[in-house]
Amino acid sequence: MSKQMTRRDFALTNEELRLQETLFHTANGYIGVRGNFEEGYPEDFVSSRGQYINGVFDIADMKQAEQLYGFPNKKEVILNVADTQTIRLYLDGEEVTAFGQGVRELNRVLDMEKGTALRSFIWKSQKGEEVTVSYRRMTSFTLLPLFTIEVTIISHDFEGSVSIVSEHHGSAQNFVNPNDPRMAAEAEDYLSVAETRYDEEQQLSKITAVTKTSELSVQTLVFHDVSSQLELGLVEEDESVSVVYDGQLTVGVTIDFVKYSLFLDSRRYDLEKDGGSFVETVRQKPLNQWYQEQEEYLDKFWRQAELSVVGDPLLNESLNYSLYSLIQSAGKDGISNIAAKGLSGEGYEGHYFWDTEIYMMPFFTLTYPEIAAKLIEFRYTILEKARENARILGHKQGALFPWRTISGAESSGYYPSGTAQYHINSDIAYSIIQYYQATGDLDCLLRFGGEIVVETSRLWLDAGHYEGKRFVLNCMTGPDEYTCVVNNNYYTNLSVQYQLNWLVKLYPLFKEQKADFLDKLQVTDQEISDYESAAAAMYLPYSEEKQIHAQDDSFLEKPVLPINELPKQDFPLLLHYHPLYLYRHQVCKQADIVLAYFLHDEAFDTEAIQRGYDYYEKLTTHDSSLSSCIFSIVANQIGDVEKAYRYFEESSKIDITNSHHNTQDGIHAANMGGTYLGLVFGFAGLRIREDSLVLTPRLPQKWTGCHFSVNYQGSQLHIVINKEEIHVSMETGAPVNLTVYDERRILSQENDWKIPYRKER
Ligand code: BGC
Repeated sequence: MSKQMTRRDFALTNEELRLQETLFHTANGYIGVRGNFEEGYPEDFVSSRGQYINGVFDIADMKQAEQLYGFPNKKEVILNVADTQTIRLYLDGEEVTAFGQGVRELNRVLDMEKGTALRSFIWKSQKGEEVTVSYRRMTSFTLLPLFTIEVTIISHDFEGSVSIVSEHHGSAQNFVNPNDPRMAAEAEDYLSVAETRYDEEQQLSKITAVTKTSELSVQTLVFHDVSSQLELGLVEEDESVSVVYDGQLTVGVTIDFVKYSLFLDSRRYDLEKDGGSFVETVRQKPLNQWYQEQEEYLDKFWRQAELSVVGDPLLNESLNYSLYSLIQSAGKDGISNIAAKGLSGEGYEGHYFWDTEIYMMPFFTLTYPEIAAKLIEFRYTILEKARENARILGHKQGALFPWRTISGAESSGYYPSGTAQYHINSDIAYSIIQYYQATGDLDCLLRFGGEIVVETSRLWLDAGHYEGKRFVLNCMTGPDEYTCVVNNNYYTNLSVQYQLNWLVKLYPLFKEQKADFLDKLQVTDQEISDYESAAAAMYLPYSEEKQIHAQDDSFLEKPVLPINELPKQDFPLLLHYHPLYLYRHQVCKQADIVLAYFLHDEAFDTEAIQRGYDYYEKLTTHDSSLSSCIFSIVANQIGDVEKAYRYFEESSKIDITNSHHNTQDGIHAANMGGTYLGLVFGFAGLRIREDSLVLTPRLPQKWTGCHFSVNYQGSQLHIVINKEEIHVSMETGAPVNLTVYDERRILSQENDWKIPYRKER
């Protein structure tokens, strides 16, 4: 089945087009280009014409109404860099646009196997003659700075002149929406053009722009490859460059116009030298070869990340879109990470959150471990800034990772639901431990992960204290952002306990391996034994009366907010209620304890999970897109497969159906990872345990089965589940331990395993 997302004969409304800009964006983890129309939109349309480089940012003022000690007054923001998307087309002097009279067969296709986005339509001239115009875009996975647009014009019965104007703007402005806290509120010119050059011999424009504050530069190079009917005419050059190609179009002839853009930044490249060699590299091959390499890259990707359900084609479209979005979004160079909106828009200002570690990393850990390792390396590169951050917060030791950041500086302005979310520390540690268990990659642990786990553990010992025999963690915010700055958030305390116990367990290995960081950080046996004691004494609040885990010390004492009685238009509540009103009630924006039930399932018995789930489900609005997928997974844990399916359906289609009404600002990348989790960890019941991969499958009525591939301990496994049996085979690699339900075996290339599916459990 081909992996495509299509939109045909869609309405040309502003709302629909902004949504499509996001959905049809093209990205490769380094650059991302929104799916804007090359020819632009009518003047009264508000479009976010955007193109981004992962990790390239400027620093903006973040005014605090009261500048208390340690509040950041600057933040990092992703930049809308050079605009090379614009191409205008004129036939006999008439401008060709999708908005023209008589335009028909509007069509968009995102081809996730070829790695291209196509837009086409049939245009009619005033005389009634028709042409088909199509635009094919690609951001190359094999040459990360490369973005191409191929314009094809086919005449049905048009004969006359053609003129193509291709523009190159070296800077662009960020999008603003003062009424939405998830968007930037004020416009600023972050980039200014330092140099514009047009090289006549090479027919190449090069613009270098510099940021106002962060001292970064962005260089874009643009050149064209055109079919023989076109000739270069006028070139205009000031801050921008605009080139015109003229020619004649006749019936039976296809005009092909290719615009190559290269995006380079000073964090990764030498802008004096590298641009020229990239241009040479691109010119060495025809576009078709770049297309072919793209397809080969994705062929490998889909083999490694293969995932499909049987009996629900629509769902497969959103599953494919989710996985494709993840590979489009992930920084793969250790310098960058995965922004909450990937590279599809400016929502959350391009910041990296805990979303990466808890929601997206598992996908990479199990399908593309080399990318997961780079995401860990990224956290290592900002460890020093995390140490500085901890000092600002008054901690004498350890590191506290920023809640929102691009290059390490804390960029969250509202600390109760920002900086106070200390759990990002244990989330990062959790993802490192899971990565290690899934891959056995000791090298990554010794070079990056181990030091992060030690430094974040030190922070916990400094942030917490003993209250009698209990180790407590006060004044922190858990994942639920409708309950802020509390004592003993259950999720946080449990994750910290997990992290400390793991450090104790890994310590002998670190010693045996003579890990450099042990010396560097002067880790002592006493320190490790302090972690052991704190973990053993960790306080985990529980209500005897209600027989459930308490989200924190005071949560269960508050009145319940009857969310079912609130008007529909009040959601998301964060846009309609003062934060304090929400904090004073039992109401949850997203999975909090329920997330703990998933990540730390071994710490609970099923009855306790059931009671907690029933209680917290009634209080949760799912105003965050990070919620439904987790409720789906835990519904599976307690055996309510049909409920799991309902949540899963909801979460898997958030962007495709724009159900949160803000996909126009960018995809919900964490939810895309959550969709993967929902299938693989939810319905297939996969868990990465210390000495075995575990599967406990459950299938909803609607599906006849599902199948997927994972990489475990370097071996590639293929898992097919249907209502008769579970079949696990190994495609490559050495034997591994596998547990299905409660039976354990060694799986090897020679010995695959079929086990009957259990209907009732
Ligand atoms: C959620 C956070 C999340 C952030 C970015 C917020 O709405 O509450 O948990 O990290 O979005 O996705």
